[in-house]
Amino acid sequence: MIHINMRKHIYLFMLFIVMFSCEVNAQPYTINKQVKGKKHMVVTAHPLASEAGLIILKKGGNAIDAMVAVHFVLAVVYQRAGNIGGGGYLIYRRNHYNIQALDFRETAPELASRNMYIQQNGHINDSVSKDGHLASGIPGSVAGVYDAHKANGTLPWKTLLQSAISYAENGFLLTEKEAEELNNNRLDFKRLNNHQTVFYQDIPWKAGDKIVQKDLAKTLRIIQKYGKDGFYKGAIADLIVKEMKSGGGIITHKDLSQYKPIWHQPIEFTYRDSFTVYTMPPSSAGGMILNEMMNMSETINLHSLGFHTTASIHWLAETEKRAYADRAVYCGDADYYHVPIYGLTAKKYAKHRISTFNPTKTIPSKQMKEGTLQYTSEETTHYSIVDSYGQAVSVTTTLNGNYGSRVIVKGAGFVLNNEMDDFSVKPGTPNMFGLIGAEANAIQPGKRMLSSMTPLIVQKNDSLFLIAGTPGGATITTSMYQLLINMIDFNMSLQQAIYSPRFHHQWLPDILYHEADCFDTATKKELEQFGYTLKQRSAFGRIDAIYIAPDASIEGIGDNRGDDSASGE
Ligand code: GLY
Repeated sequence: MIHINMRKHIYLFMLFIVMFSCEVNAQPYTINKQVKGKKHMVVTAHPLASEAGLIILKKGGNAIDAMVAVHFVLAVVYQRAGNIGGGGYLIYRRNHYNIQALDFRETAPELASRNMYIQQNGHINDSVSKDGHLASGIPGSVAGVYDAHKANGTLPWKTLLQSAISYAENGFLLTEKEAEELNNNRLDFKRLNNHQTVFYQDIPWKAGDKIVQKDLAKTLRIIQKYGKDGFYKGAIADLIVKEMKSGGGIITHKDLSQYKPIWHQPIEFTYRDSFTVYTMPPSSAGGMILNEMMNMSETINLHSLGFHTTASIHWLAETEKRAYADRAVYCGDADYYHVPIYGLTAKKYAKHRISTFNPTKTIPSKQMKEGTLQYTSEETTHYSIVDSYGQAVSVTTTLNGNYGSRVIVKGAGFVLNNEMDDFSVKPGTPNMFGLIGAEANAIQPGKRMLSSMTPLIVQKNDSLFLIAGTPGGATITTSMYQLLINMIDFNMSLQQAIYSPRFHHQWLPDILYHEADCFDTATKKELEQFGYTLKQRSAFGRIDAIYIAPDASIEGIGDNRGDDSASGE
């Protein structure tokens, strides 16, 4: 008897040791924050996705082939933003003179209407634009990735989905951050789905738990076999429409079968002569607004103001406020509204726009309207890839909020976006990122909702210099702005430029948001004396980027704000 009790105690003690050691060594993967190489590199929000991309590059695939593998693996292992039920943007460098942009943003369903989220009392029903079936636009990701591959891929489509299928079929281990995010959303998974989903379990998730997604594996197999038609037509389309009907959603078979990504010329602009930035045109506001802010900054010697001094923070915040005031009024889907791209991005306009800058005082946002154009003519994810052929891919993709609408298509196992909230659901009323919009971004069937996503590729004197992007809603464009300024004006390494604390001003609300330890006490005091209202918030953006040095060596950096990880050689 004593013997059995002792064995029981030893067993319990060992169990305790195992549980304890699981807790202290909670990450199931090696996360590589910095990788240096000579051939190729992949940086994504999840180490399994980065590895899947690298495997394809090692097999001789190009950056687009790696993109396909990464995109589908992220949909399995990083479900809160990686997706097949969302959309996004690609900047693709085939070579130094051929750089293209692909818009695979979601569109509004045919049955959507301008006032669909406004109640009889005139107030917005914003829970409906953010949660549940009515919040989703027509997903663009599968068509986007498929079209990019069809035009530029070299390895067979079928082989590129294999890693994703295997992680969905056999399961993978959750990181601590992913377990935490699933737990934060577990009640919504239950509330917003009338079926059992794999994301919900009665006991909380923890790091190292295995998650198996059989329905998603089936969906991916169909896409593997039939390409984009496997998603927009046939059995998966039937499941999406059935899911919509069961929860009051409005996406139809016609909406799905008519969805098309669009190739564009990217926004292209120079900065301080030697740098050329290629980024996203509308339906994202990101490229135009970044261009406008960089044009304003080019009018002064920022370096001489010093990094994160009151003077340089004040300058950057004032440029951000002006650009975001313009965003609110002028930006929307250029296929549906005349967006004055040339006017907003003209260097002369920037000079004029910043001419009211006062070096010792901020202009209150209420007194700052959009500029007069005279010169006519909390989730997303980003991945960056460069291959050994000099091709590069910069993709930002999203479901909008964490896990999008939190609706999981019954039988198909994937999450649908809540991108409809990125429309200006009622002009003058803020969306979930506090962003104000106007007529330019009003809801219309078929229209793409405005985005802040700013994937970019930068060349220096025609050579590849940087591939970068970030999630972060409204903060995306200011994060990319500060990344470029940190590297070009303040001569920082890519890692320093990403790890430096960030700040953000979006005109309204009239608040200068900042991360912890961004400003020292004296600087905070001076900024308050200039008239700023400061507010510390949680870390924002997770920049995944690749730097190519003049000797052609490559450095991949995953942001220290997440599980972001680089893989390369
Ligand atoms: N859903 C966030 C964005 O597109 O900006």
